[in-house]
Amino acid sequence: MNLRKTLRHGLLWLLTLTLSQLVLAANGPQYASQGMVVSQNALASEAGAQVLREGGNAIDAAVATAFALAVTHPTAGNIGGGGFLIHRPAKGDAQTYDFREKAPAAAHPEMWLDEAGNYDYEKHHSSHLAVGVPGTVAGLYLAWQDGGTLPWARLVAPAIALARDGFTVTHGLARSLNTTGMRRFEPYPASVAQFTKDGTPYEAGDRLVQRDLAATLQRIAEAGPKGFYEGETADLLVKEMAANGGIITHDDLKAYEAVRRAPILGSYRGYEIIGMPPPSSGGVTMVQMLNVLEGYDLSASGFGSARTLHLMTEAMRRGYANRARYLGDPDFNPGMPLLELLSKDYANLLRGSIDESTASVSDPGSFTWGYESPETTHFSVVDGARNAVSVTYTLEYSYGSGIVVPGAGFLLNNEMGDFNGKPGLTDTRGLIGTPPNVAEPGKRMLSSMSPTIVAKDGALFMVTGSPGGRTIINTTLQTILNVVDHGMNAQAAVDAGRIHHQWLPDRISYEAQLFSPDTVKLLEALGHETRAQSRQGVAEVIVVNPETGVLEGGVDGRAPDGGAAGH
Ligand code: DON
Repeated sequence: MNLRKTLRHGLLWLLTLTLSQLVLAANGPQYASQGMVVSQNALASEAGAQVLREGGNAIDAAVATAFALAVTHPTAGNIGGGGFLIHRPAKGDAQTYDFREKAPAAAHPEMWLDEAGNYDYEKHHSSHLAVGVPGTVAGLYLAWQDGGTLPWARLVAPAIALARDGFTVTHGLARSLNTTGMRRFEPYPASVAQFTKDGTPYEAGDRLVQRDLAATLQRIAEAGPKGFYEGETADLLVKEMAANGGIITHDDLKAYEAVRRAPILGSYRGYEIIGMPPPSSGGVTMVQMLNVLEGYDLSASGFGSARTLHLMTEAMRRGYANRARYLGDPDFNPGMPLLELLSKDYANLLRGSIDESTASVSDPGSFTWGYESPETTHFSVVDGARNAVSVTYTLEYSYGSGIVVPGAGFLLNNEMGDFNGKPGLTDTRGLIGTPPNVAEPGKRMLSSMSPTIVAKDGALFMVTGSPGGRTIINTTLQTILNVVDHGMNAQAAVDAGRIHHQWLPDRISYEAQLFSPDTVKLLEALGHETRAQSRQGVAEVIVVNPETGVLEGGVDGRAPDGGAAGH
């Protein structure tokens, strides 16, 4: 009898879970009053929300979510990569944490040339020389030391359980592991072992267990960053490097430090914008674009109209041109003109160069863009006190370098690919060689990751961000415009069609199914080149309803498996 009861209870529970998952995939925003986590993986969001239910704050929940994503979302969730975190406490000043990877001490600007002195793309993006010194564990720990309240080990625990006991492979993960993943894993037996069943591909419904990763996470839970940057984990990483032409040493690992940096602060129609400073280009570029757009009534010209898209494009063109000209690691580029770039006066000048009825022309000058992968992940967290955390972190490519550290079970990034490939090299394939972002020992490579927080009249309003390489800044920008100018709720703001222009190449990419051909024709008539694309970014957004104080979560359906979890 008891058994039957238990079974019935189990079935009901399963049904409820299935229904709630269906609800998560439905059209409206998710709602919560006490706190919320929105990420690209529902299991990871739940790990964070459970921390909130136990009385943890937004930083605690962010740490738990980040470690869980390293297990359940291996394309970009990581401990072997890096990223950025913005914390806006309900009271006090916002703080950002830079845990971007660093170049090892033996790095130099010409490290990706072959013996004949030619640039070697594979070496730069897909070898042990593509791996930067990881920053994630140090960054999460620093943020937790500053503002966490629950024990560190409690926050790593959900990830350990997910790695040790396994979790159910979804359709999305199976497809990703067996396509993009296998291409990256193939040269590396430890990677193939971790992400296949003895060589047989995982299918949806299988259980993915990652024992070595669980053991590494256990060391991190017990010893903090020392469990990663020193001892057994470090030994395994350095051994893998030394055996394969990599250059990361014990000294590089020990020397890695995450950094607190003052946020980029801007304003847009009375809203306060809190963005990530260099080595992310996100905050500076975003605030410039918003400053330019503030001079136009976008609400009147309307979402998706040719006029609005034209003005957005011209703001993007100018913001991205300055990104290329001026931005890099601030520790190596002390002369970046940030104050000028961020000023309203400068935006007036930029706006003065915009013709409202004709596209400007991007001057190619002497360089164009390098490639940036669109695989990263963003999550947003708000707690009951309305402390907010916005995190974007990455391995760079999907599954990073594809290299799982044998015996340690985690993927290594290929973030060195974000440095310019060779000094002075500029070619039509889109490589650039400008000085602010060439490799140097200990330098951080320039990033587009743009975790962002918006406040109004001193109160939290919005937490946003997205993956997507260079498109990140534009995707995040559009989530803000959609809410502030077009009055959309969090879900509508995430669902709405997106465009991208990055100065060079001089063209607008647009999400083909989400804009009308008529609008595209009007843009072309203004002189814009256009290119249809299938999707742009995966924004995960929380908006605080200013009237009710209720949290609205917007989960991006452009990628599978995302989820909002509330408290
Ligand atoms: O830091 C950057 O800008 C890139 N490495 C991010 C890569 C990325 O966004 C891949 N994303 N989805």
